[in-house]
Amino acid sequence: MDISSLLGGGSKALIGLDISSSAVKLVELSEASSKQYRLERYAIEPLPRDAVTDGNISSLEAVADAIRRAWKRLGSGTRQVALALPAPSVITKKIFLPAGLREVEMEVQVESEANQYIPFAIDEVNLDFQVLGYAPGSEEEVEVLIAASRKEKVEDRVAAAEAAGLKALVMDVESFASLAAFNLIQSRLPEAGKGKVIAMVDIGAQMMKVTILRDQNVVYSREQAFGGNLLTQDIARNYGMSFEEAEAAKRSNSLPENFEHDLLRPFMDSVGLEVSRALQFFFTSTQFNQVDHIVLSGGCAVIPGVDQIVSSRTQVTTEVANPFAGMALSQKVRPKSLATDAPALMLACGLALRRFDA
Ligand SMILES: Nc1ncnc2c1ncn2[C@@H]1O[C@H](COP(=O)(O)OP(=O)(O)OP(=O)(O)O)[C@@H](O)[C@H]1O
Ligand SMILES: [Mg+2]
Repeated sequence: MDISSLLGGGSKALIGLDISSSAVKLVELSEASSKQYRLERYAIEPLPRDAVTDGNISSLEAVADAIRRAWKRLGSGTRQVALALPAPSVITKKIFLPAGLREVEMEVQVESEANQYIPFAIDEVNLDFQVLGYAPGSEEEVEVLIAASRKEKVEDRVAAAEAAGLKALVMDVESFASLAAFNLIQSRLPEAGKGKVIAMVDIGAQMMKVTILRDQNVVYSREQAFGGNLLTQDIARNYGMSFEEAEAAKRSNSLPENFEHDLLRPFMDSVGLEVSRALQFFFTSTQFNQVDHIVLSGGCAVIPGVDQIVSSRTQVTTEVANPFAGMALSQKVRPKSLATDAPALMLACGLALRRFDA
């Protein structure tokens, strides 16, 4: 994969492919009209435990198998995918360069800038840049976003997609792609959330990621080890199940009656507590002292009532993310399944949106 695709987009058919710790997720969007997207199809295929840990692919074979199965079930005509690297694997930096440089001149400048702050040799790195626009209050300089990551991180993901017969066209950064999906949600808030401080909280299997935004700008972000795996482990321990059995039982609601009181409620309470702690951290480490709205995503956001618990703990209105809420749905998509899957599809949706980038 060449330099220019680390952040690049395109207008060709493209599927969003999220390789996360518990599953491989695919989303394909189209344009229903110039003002509306349509969800054509999606697929989620669970991954064996430990196939992906801390954003690293530990078992290429297991990941490639899951991608292959997911793509088959998806039933799409395209094999081109947009992938993303976890934010911690990518160094990003904004720099200013003189306006009007040619592409090659810019590449040279970007490389020499990158040399100064990237902690590894430049030939071990995938480097990309994107011109964001004129520098604030200037017409002589442009603001340029540089993204750099270790080649092996990029290559692992590309290799997994290729081993499954797919072609990686775009390599994004997870946090950027999630923001693209979040923008869809934000555009439906009153006054599109203008001037409001909004916390995006994603609680997946391993990680809880908190991103706080004001007027589309990220003012704070933090991630910590906390997620649904804790509950799955409790289920496995309590009912003498394997991790996989526990995970399946949890998702299909087929657990003994005491589950809700003994395990689920305490887990939901700890979700509320962790979110409220995360906001406290945000207040103590910034000049902010309030959050106006919380948007919960990730598989743990699906637990019925978890939004109320978060809202009463934090005293902040809380909604469960549905990036597809304003979209048309193709007939292949079952609304009922989508309702439980949507909160975990933010990243895959954000990646699928890359096909519409100019
Ligand atoms: N209906 C449900 N009820 C309870 N928990 C659920 C449900 N659906 C999914 N989960 C939990 O959500 C978690 C998976 O969420 P998600 O798909 O967002 O994780 P991920 O993106 O793979 O993980 P991470 O972002 O941590 O890498 C699992 O722990 C799963 O058990
Ligand atoms: Mg996730």
